[in-house]
Amino acid sequence: MPDIRVVNLTKKYGKIYALDNVSLTIKDKEYFSLLGPSGCGKTTLLRLIAGLIEPDSGEIYIGDRRVDKDPPEDRDIGFVFQTFALFPHMTAWGNVIYGPKVKNYDQKKADTIGHEVLDLVKLNERLNAYPSELSGGMMQRIAVARALAAGAKTLLLDEPLGQLDAKVRNEIRYEIRRMAKDLKLTSIHVTHDQAEAMSISDRIAVMKKGKIVQSGTPQELYMHPNSLFVAHFIGESNFLEGYITETNEHTEVELREGLKVKAINPGIKREERVILAIRPETCDMKRGRATTEDGLLGKIEKVTFEGTVVRYEIRLENGDRMIINRPSLAEKWIEIGEEVTINYPIEKAHLFVYPEAGLTEEISV
Ligand SMILES: Nc1ncnc2c1ncn2[C@@H]1O[C@H](COP(=O)(O)OP(=O)(O)OP(=O)(O)O)[C@@H](O)[C@H]1O
Ligand SMILES: [Mg+2]
Repeated sequence: MPDIRVVNLTKKYGKIYALDNVSLTIKDKEYFSLLGPSGCGKTTLLRLIAGLIEPDSGEIYIGDRRVDKDPPEDRDIGFVFQTFALFPHMTAWGNVIYGPKVKNYDQKKADTIGHEVLDLVKLNERLNAYPSELSGGMMQRIAVARALAAGAKTLLLDEPLGQLDAKVRNEIRYEIRRMAKDLKLTSIHVTHDQAEAMSISDRIAVMKKGKIVQSGTPQELYMHPNSLFVAHFIGESNFLEGYITETNEHTEVELREGLKVKAINPGIKREERVILAIRPETCDMKRGRATTEDGLLGKIEKVTFEGTVVRYEIRLENGDRMIINRPSLAEKWIEIGEEVTINYPIEKAHLFVYPEAGLTEEISV
């Protein structure tokens, strides 16, 4: 199955750029996710690739073939929507063999395909059920089966798990990935749920306001966010504001109230206003005020048990607030009001220039 390539793709609705000059390559057989807040253009990009809408400008290629002028049915693409888009008056079987029938396959061939895809989604024993008799998870599996039976080589999934409850979501998302991988399909999965994207994707493109902010493997995005937006949208980050006061041997950042910390500098000038982003789970936290070692001093203001982690809200000496997550089983919890000393690995903290529009605007979704 071929790569999918979009080049300088733009789609406007009135004055709104739903998609603003986006270029992206999705590799052959890749499970790729488009991740971003509501209204960032995910569905628009998917519908352009499927041929359900036309771009204002730009090109779309499937393999070497330019397809942006081709009708949807010539693109070998299967589309699975958030809302269950099965034909309600047809059984699971009727839905699945709809595609082969439209293609005028003979009965035997259509039956073979139908059973094959129902086997794949493990629903052969429910082939006589109507959509209303199936669970949400089952309906989505039938929707995938229907796309496969219709000969899809590329699977486009728009929030396919959005209507399912959390437990079912978790199961189905791995199943859909497994099927796509078994069948060597190229898949594009749209979601606004970062945990979902992180757990099933080979690569992810993070979108904001019609543009792709960063794309990469889940690890790359998490370990090396290229912007405050990605550091905020993927995982969680503490943002500490300050100025660069020293760039010689080490870069030194002066936070509020003259509190000085070290950082690795990607090349930002001295005296520049910056934000230091620190992941809550990378920090080490000890009880009491350190006497010898360096560290940020603070006081615990809130403790929340979240199952696998305990979440501490800490007020630093300079008034800044930090969140630190610690494994809940590993230690005795620290209590509200206790003083702590915090150390973070500087190689895992990221320094960004303070955004012109302000931090709140920059990371708003
Ligand atoms: N048919 C349309 N007419 C007018 N504006 C539209 C149309 N479709 C999308 N838009 C606008 O384009 C922008 C992108 O919409 P899109 O549906 O692609 O977002 P999305 O990322 O899929 O969001 P969500 O997560 O809420 O589904 C939004 O501002 C939306 O209002
Ligand atoms: Mg959408």
